[in-house]
Amino acid sequence: MPARPRIHLNAFAMMCAGHQSPGLWRHPADQGFRYTDLDHWTSLARLLDGAGFDALFLADVLGVYDVAAGSRDAAVRAGIQIPLGDPMMPVSAMAAATTNLGFGVTVSTSYEHPYALARRFTTLDHLTRGRIGWNVVTGYLASAAANLGLGEQLAHDERYAQADEYLEVCRRLWHESWEDDAVVRSGDTYTDPAKVHDIDFHGRWYDVPGPFLCEPSPQRSPVIFQAGASPRGLAFAGRHAEAVFISGPSTTVLAGQVDRLRSAVSDAGRDPSSVTVFCQLAPVAAATSTAADDLYAEYLDSFSLEGALALFAGWTGLDLTGIDPDQPLRYVESDAGRSALASFTTDDPDREWTVGEVARHLAVGGRGPVAVGSGAEVADQMETWVDETGADGFNLAYAVVPGTFEQVAEHVVPELRRRGRMPSGPVPGTLRERLALR
Ligand SMILES: Cc1cc2nc3c(=O)[nH]c(=O)nc-3n(C[C@H](O)[C@H](O)[C@H](O)COP(=O)(O)O)c2cc1C
Repeated sequence: MPARPRIHLNAFAMMCAGHQSPGLWRHPADQGFRYTDLDHWTSLARLLDGAGFDALFLADVLGVYDVAAGSRDAAVRAGIQIPLGDPMMPVSAMAAATTNLGFGVTVSTSYEHPYALARRFTTLDHLTRGRIGWNVVTGYLASAAANLGLGEQLAHDERYAQADEYLEVCRRLWHESWEDDAVVRSGDTYTDPAKVHDIDFHGRWYDVPGPFLCEPSPQRSPVIFQAGASPRGLAFAGRHAEAVFISGPSTTVLAGQVDRLRSAVSDAGRDPSSVTVFCQLAPVAAATSTAADDLYAEYLDSFSLEGALALFAGWTGLDLTGIDPDQPLRYVESDAGRSALASFTTDDPDREWTVGEVARHLAVGGRGPVAVGSGAEVADQMETWVDETGADGFNLAYAVVPGTFEQVAEHVVPELRRRGRMPSGPVPGTLRERLALR
């Protein structure tokens, strides 16, 4: 029998108290409020490194969720991704505390200049010794654009056009400015000027003469992740992504996203299997299925409906406040994100979601599925999800932090290792090497 494909694991978190599980900061086991302690991050990183996770992936936004009921109050009250810190800051400390764990940091291409951001990523690639990835997003919150003095955010597809150009600037800075042996440190020469080149980039949004400020880092460029499955998002992923995050409530929805993504990669002239796909999943694992069911019930008790509506409205631009919970949810095109709403509507025409069902679905771990059970039962579900969707692994959202990741390390990872779906020990190398990316 051929070996069953490896299942990659990322932990999904954010530099805030409440990431994808609205209201669960109220659960007594949740330590998310410690996000301002460096020790919270370094001990989480050590836990994940020891458990064989590929990476810790940090989400980010630069705006407040103020779409629901036309107010930010619900998001502020429920701790929905606010208060929020800068996800790049804890990375070098976490790198010092770990050996193999990779770090994916989300940064939007809509809010800052590529010349400055390319340097920050190269710096982190040096300091992590090649363990850094960039989740390239285009943003969806109008409040972010307003606070950065951009006025209205660019229209949805224009944001991706700008992101295409942004990545081209970064790629040229990372790969075409400095030759491998530019730094010589000999005689009176630190760097050979003949081996440092301008990039002479002139585009629609950016003019960057060069040269880049940084010497080449272990990976030269961060692993490029992408996370937006609208048609324009997929075209962007097809051109640039080495790994992709997807999210949706069923294997039907995710299998469609994986198929469309691999076609987009092929349309861009690349090998469709060269992109590693992570689907979002929230595990609730315990020693027995009964104990896991009890935990899940406790988590649901801490859920904030008001928070879920704030989150959903920010993602989709659709305000469900005050709408009859039994009303079916329909797709409407907006200038926020598009694939979040599509995953509950057009992606699976055979499954009609009501407004109330969607809000409750977001209680634990956001838009993805929840896998509840013993280690073996959660591992069964994870195998089914990858085998039925063609994805390569999971972006694991937490109910409580670090509790969810402790449960995975104790109950699920040993089971996946026993089944040959995770390596039995640490996998050294750069993040790109660990994800087997070309
Ligand atoms: C798993 C996952 C994680 C995401 N994380 C972020 C994030 O941290 N910040 C962000 O602005 N957008 C995030 N997004 C949203 C997308 O990157 C994208 O901006 C949004 O979905 C709009 O693109 P679309 O219309 O192509 O879906 C995430 C999406 C997914 C599926």
